[in-house]
Amino acid sequence: MKNLSFLLLILIFTFSAFAQNLTSPNGNLSLNFKLNDSGEAVYQLSYKGKAVIKESKMGFEIKDQPDLKKGFKIIDTKTDAKDESWNPVWGEVKTIRNNYKELAVTLEQKGDKLTRKIMIRFRLFDDGLGFRYEFPVQDQLKYFTVNEEKTEFNLSGDHKTFWIPGDYDSQEYAYNTTKFSEIAASKSLYFNPNSDKIPFAENAVQTPLMMKTADGLYLNFHEAALINYPAMYMMVDRQSLKMISHLCPNALGSAAFLQTPEKTPWRTILVSDKAADILASKTILNLNEPSKYADTSFIKPQKFVGVWWGMHVNTESWNYADVNNVKIDETDWKSLKPNGRHGANTANVKRYIDFAAKNGIQGILVEGWNIGWEDWYGQWKENVFDFVTPYPDFDVKELQKYAAAKGVKLIMHHETSASASNYERRLDEAFRFMKQYGYDSVKTGYVGRIIPRGEHHESQTMVNHYLHVVKTAEKYKISVDSHESVHLTGLHRTFPNWIAAEAARGNEYNAWSEGNPPEHETILPFTRLMGGPMDYTPGIFEIKRSHYQPNQKEQVHTTLAKQLALYVTLYSPLQMAADLPENYEKRMDAFQFIKDVAVDWDDTKILEAEPGDYLTIARKAKGKNEWFIGAITDENSRTATASLDFLDAGKQYVATIYADGKDADWEKNPMVYQINSYLVDNKTVLKLALASGGGAAVSIKSAKPNDLTKFKKY
Ligand code: NOJ
Ligand code: CA
Repeated sequence: MKNLSFLLLILIFTFSAFAQNLTSPNGNLSLNFKLNDSGEAVYQLSYKGKAVIKESKMGFEIKDQPDLKKGFKIIDTKTDAKDESWNPVWGEVKTIRNNYKELAVTLEQKGDKLTRKIMIRFRLFDDGLGFRYEFPVQDQLKYFTVNEEKTEFNLSGDHKTFWIPGDYDSQEYAYNTTKFSEIAASKSLYFNPNSDKIPFAENAVQTPLMMKTADGLYLNFHEAALINYPAMYMMVDRQSLKMISHLCPNALGSAAFLQTPEKTPWRTILVSDKAADILASKTILNLNEPSKYADTSFIKPQKFVGVWWGMHVNTESWNYADVNNVKIDETDWKSLKPNGRHGANTANVKRYIDFAAKNGIQGILVEGWNIGWEDWYGQWKENVFDFVTPYPDFDVKELQKYAAAKGVKLIMHHETSASASNYERRLDEAFRFMKQYGYDSVKTGYVGRIIPRGEHHESQTMVNHYLHVVKTAEKYKISVDSHESVHLTGLHRTFPNWIAAEAARGNEYNAWSEGNPPEHETILPFTRLMGGPMDYTPGIFEIKRSHYQPNQKEQVHTTLAKQLALYVTLYSPLQMAADLPENYEKRMDAFQFIKDVAVDWDDTKILEAEPGDYLTIARKAKGKNEWFIGAITDENSRTATASLDFLDAGKQYVATIYADGKDADWEKNPMVYQINSYLVDNKTVLKLALASGGGAAVSIKSAKPNDLTKFKKY
């Protein structure tokens, strides 16, 4: 017995005094965990023998309790490893390998009055690290409030950083590229209807956060599996080149209400000396749980058109009448005088249905179909929409019949105007209405300040709200595309009916603001899209606003060909052909690429990549021997190179190249393009000339016998 306790003592001593090491399967990454002299938990991450995250502390501030930061002892460590493969319901590749080494360390903090336990679970992959905190069931930590999480990320240098400010309510910013030490403090741009101060993390940035070190390493910081917890921001310590986690606050000024057993989301750090590896990484997805859905057949990757862009370029309106101060449950809508510009009228929707049906597009989104748009924006009011009452000129029954006869599907739109409480109350009725009229996907939206008041787009309450909507939708076999929602964290592995989200600055900004700079789409894949697919709404052919109103200066900051390339470079299983049918009808030769391009993939090859500069991606269509390539550049013209060595050896293919035309330029001459087809094989190397703000899109299909004489060799 004496010997046993002696052994135990030695064990405890060994655990507490010595560092724990973990090496990734291929040995490139290594993690070191230890307790320092004050009993603080410290981790460190190295890539190919060099520290990329220097010693960094971990811990929590708990409301009405001492900090959970120091005085720890290691009471248990466990290691594990996994190497398995799984197939996503939809995605960029058919099969995903989940290969990691795990270390789980249980820490105990014994105070005068309190003894508390916390476990830190590390998973080390070849391309990155994930770790999370777990709070086991325990007497003195049952139901508790986290005021702040203090996870440090101590950088190894003053890296180039692609960042947007720490806004708790919006990610709709263009990216800044500066040294880490030059990240500027920022103010909220949005949502100040009542001119009271909007809480905003002035010295924080958002994740996914992308960096490049001076010696050419690429780093990406984010989180995975964000459930029942606020989104994480990074406080910036410019002097010591350190980031510290900062949780989105709630209405009471704390961050998270938790009940043990509970766990935080994973904190992720991806590392590679190739930018392409960051884009190809599946670590964030792998850190999410497998889906438990019994049936996923209702989830349909698809392209869609919509009564939408007309409102953004102000040729149509969402609202039916030009009045204000309406009350959703009291106004007599039939007595209102229509304004004559209402986009969602039955005849116009039929035109979109016809266009979709004729061109093999599966979905038609209609915004502004339901009462409430007269008075929705910036009012911060509770009951804005009821989600079930069409305007008098929108014949929901007739359109259901019409769409069904043409074999296409209408897509529902639920703008909540950020009144999440109103939406939750009406959700089941809204989903029943959808099913009754044949809708099986919904685009949601959260424009404005959140109700319940004091909550934020990224606070715990709202994180729970978005997932509640997704889980409820699954019961009705409905897929969700959420706009203005929290950043994605790979939850679509678990909840694949969360088919896309916006949660970033989309193409719409090009319609009515200073727009998205040409580099924007080269940064998005390294930032926002690391968490999951984005509904960017590409495909604008009529580039300049002056086409609609001569004095408007706004424009899309790309060439037309680059708009095509975005269908490949900005991954989403839900892709809008966002322009008006009449603009496509004028250029059906270019629209052919949108008709052809797939939205679900068996394989993806990142051929060239540099955040902020350029991107060339090739993808193989699901279940078909067809490839699509997208190449894009920032404001600098350049030549993209695509070696077609991924094609089957000994086979001939036809590559159709949709490229920028002569003298194309995003600003001066954005709409010239050229389309050429060639015979290619797996030895072909394409050289694609990209204009300033330009791009190229390529479709590659097996050559038919008569193609061999019809087209010349590339
Ligand atoms: C913002 C969304 O991003 C946009 O797509 C939508 O049209 C408006 N909100 C109105 O809901
Ligand atoms: Ca938006």
